[in-house]
Amino acid sequence: MRIHSSTSATRGKDLFGNDALTLLSADHQSVTELFDLFEAALESSSSEQKSLCVKICGELEIHTHLEEEIFYPTISQDAKLRPLVTEALTDHANVKAQIQKIRNLHVEDPQFGSSMLQLMDDVEKHIDEEENVMFAEVEKRFSGELDALGLQIAQRKQELSDHMSTSMSESNISKDGPVF
Ligand SMILES: [Fe+2]
Repeated sequence: MRIHSSTSATRGKDLFGNDALTLLSADHQSVTELFDLFEAALESSSSEQKSLCVKICGELEIHTHLEEEIFYPTISQDAKLRPLVTEALTDHANVKAQIQKIRNLHVEDPQFGSSMLQLMDDVEKHIDEEENVMFAEVEKRFSGELDALGLQIAQRKQELSDHMSTSMSESNISKDGPVF
């Protein structure tokens, strides 16, 4: 199996020119790193926790959107992959419900840290399943299409990220209110 580079080469303006699995794996690595930072911040600043939480939830929302809109419909064309996609969609629904719950918590709420750690645990299991089972199958069955799929994912990611930064800059996040 090809090694999927997940370095900063796949971030920002270098988003383009990567195959689909490299891009999705880079997202996985990025959110894993943010969760590590969040865990470290639990011992210190609540403003740092809040800002990492906003980043993590934003990245997860964009990533699940990309997979559901572009990646899963394509790979579902292969019958062997359909059950894996069904399982992944259940994981995504769970992640989205958890994000919704976290959005309504104040950063000082005792449930905030534990809810984020639960989200981290669930996301890590989902990533593990995708990278070790689903992506390996996709590599075998869609190897000729992964570059074109990567381009589609990169274009859509750019649009979604631009949209998200606009709405974030327009929103006025209250220091004392819920996380979002
Ligand atoms: Fe996923």
